[in-house]
Amino acid sequence: MKDALEQIRSEALADLAGGGDEAAIEALRVRYLGRKGELTTVMRHMREVAAAERPAMGALLNQIKDEIEARIGDALAAARGRARAARATQSIDVTEPGRRPALGRLHPLMQTMDDVVDVFRGLGFSVAEGPDIEDDYHNFEALNFPADHPARDMQDTLFIDGGDLVMRTHTSPVQIRVMETQPPPLRVIVPGAVYRHDSDTTHSPMFHQVEGFMVDKRVTFGDLKGVLTYALQRLFGADRPVRLRPSFFPFTEPSAEVDIGCFACGGRERTCRICKGSGWLEILGAGMIDPNVFRAVGYDAEEMSGFAFGMGIERMAMLRHQIDDIRLFFANDVRFLRQF
Ligand code: PHE
Repeated sequence: MKDALEQIRSEALADLAGGGDEAAIEALRVRYLGRKGELTTVMRHMREVAAAERPAMGALLNQIKDEIEARIGDALAAARGRARAARATQSIDVTEPGRRPALGRLHPLMQTMDDVVDVFRGLGFSVAEGPDIEDDYHNFEALNFPADHPARDMQDTLFIDGGDLVMRTHTSPVQIRVMETQPPPLRVIVPGAVYRHDSDTTHSPMFHQVEGFMVDKRVTFGDLKGVLTYALQRLFGADRPVRLRPSFFPFTEPSAEVDIGCFACGGRERTCRICKGSGWLEILGAGMIDPNVFRAVGYDAEEMSGFAFGMGIERMAMLRHQIDDIRLFFANDVRFLRQF
């Protein structure tokens, strides 16, 4: 029996030294160690071995079994390594076109906001920002909204519990914050988020505005009209007509609503869905800064003059891209966002 075992050992080790792939090695495992394998078959004859020799024979059998198992493990690892190396050289086709990485891009609202800011930066305006959470003073009081004045109702304010804090309803409080800390002359553009208690297909509780203002001696309504006409024509086309209509804001006097000619129908279609047949699209609010605002920030209201304007970015982006539901901007559906 001992000879039979030694014979199996040398045969198995010779076979396993010969290399071969994973399947070949698995076949060798079955041949030597399997249920009907050679070693197993010899083991069945253990009964026939003299009792005195049985322990030694058992030990030898186990030793050979362990040895073969260990060599199988080594041979498998080596076979897998060879297979991996072979795959690596075979599967790289250097002529295959690369995979294009999915690039992110700017949100359409941020694109529109950047475009507006860029036009004014070209006119020498510098960018300022302010807090989204404002106090009553900066959002209303200093902007000439007296306490309990009905003009505050225009704003659908979201109040913050307990204190006199509000979610800012417009970017105009940044006019106050800049003028409080900087002397005139000023040319400032203010992009930012604003908040109102309002929600439907054209209103969102959070939306964006770009505010702008210019302060110096002898700034006129003509300057306001000239700057806004230039900026709107840069944004909407050089031959786009611009008109001003009288309006009201507490912090400007006189105040105006600014319209551009409808770019969908050119003012010609009575059934136009974009301008509702009027031929005009309202695009921003503006006016000459009220002397009370200058007084609130400690400027000389007799000497200083200035204009201010504010525009809604969602509305502008909706008009530009003919989008009919404001909620598309905030749903984060990539099928929508990829189109810009
Ligand atoms: N703050 C005004 C609004 O949100 C817009 C505006 C800004 C009007 C500056 C005039 C001057 O409605």
